Amino acid sequence: MRSRIAGTGSYLPAQVLTNDDLARRGVDTSDEWVRSRTGILQRHIAAEGELSSDLAYHASRRALEAAGMAAGEIDTIIVATTTPDFVFPSTACILQDRLGLRGGPAFDVQAVCSGFVYALSIADAMIRAGTARNALVVGAETYSHILDWSDRRTCVLFGDGAGAAVLVPSAEPGIVATRLHADGSQRGILSVPGQVRDGKVAGRPFLQMDGQAVFKFAVRALTDVADEALADAGLPRTAIDWLIPHQANLRIMDATAKRLGVPHERVVVTVDRHANTSAASVPLALDEAVRDGRIRPGQHVMLLGVGGGFTWGSALLRWS
Ligand code: UT7
Repeated sequence: MRSRIAGTGSYLPAQVLTNDDLARRGVDTSDEWVRSRTGILQRHIAAEGELSSDLAYHASRRALEAAGMAAGEIDTIIVATTTPDFVFPSTACILQDRLGLRGGPAFDVQAVCSGFVYALSIADAMIRAGTARNALVVGAETYSHILDWSDRRTCVLFGDGAGAAVLVPSAEPGIVATRLHADGSQRGILSVPGQVRDGKVAGRPFLQMDGQAVFKFAVRALTDVADEALADAGLPRTAIDWLIPHQANLRIMDATAKRLGVPHERVVVTVDRHANTSAASVPLALDEAVRDGRIRPGQHVMLLGVGGGFTWGSALLRWS
């Protein structure tokens, strides 16, 4: 038994902030700097009180609709998020309740920007093992909650959003190969080093990053892990019809595509409009390319994640 994606969905909060909006709000930056260094033009920001489970819920509803399935057919829920609603319960349990479901496993995966690829790989393994039947896999983030808006090196880079996929059993492999990695020795280059302790937040609960170290790490890791999935599938690089790398920086995406020999027009790009939505970035981009008809049955789609931890991973799909 293998698994395939039966439907995708996504959701972006209504409020859009352009680079100029950020500059007007006092961030010491310019549209020219952000655009030329990252490819980002704007980002969506959650409304006051809008949490990751809210974004996840809307994306999930759309994915279920696309799959032509009722929520009651889902038995397993995995939410990839670094910005959960609470310390606990998990965002997946909150989502399960909002979808009116009971009893099946529901849990969060914390692998930062690789989270969706991790969650997809886990759901695929559960379906193959027979421990899950129909799984809802979601990436949902409200990074606006963990940004220091006075730090121009980080606050211009991120946005909020959610993407979801419904995974179902299939005789033919829809998820052809997945590979996951982590290197905890690199945890210092991207982190939110705050803890909830004794009724207070200890440490600094804002995102901090060594941008250049992340940049270098990301390009090598993304290329290597794409090659690993291709090797597992016995396919050459030229088999990639669509490349959907984590959407952090257009320059990282371009460099990765170039190293893999994938032409620019075969890379799905949403970073310009969404900025970096961490675990939501890959499913948001996947949903866009599925809905606008770019991804067609029989094509190979390479999903790539990389992010804090450090974590990285790939999922090679054959669309059906
Ligand atoms: O999910 C993974 C998460 N993160 C990433 O993938 C990010 C990876 N890294 C990057 O995308 C890039 O390293 C950045 C976009 C973060 C930074 O680009 P860079 O070309 O590496 O710039 P830099 O950090 O070397 O900074 C160059 C200059 C500095 O000024 P000085 O010291 O040369 O005078 C910065 O202070 O740009 C300045 N700068 C800014 N200026 C205007 C940094 N941020 C900004 C800003 N607006 N927002």
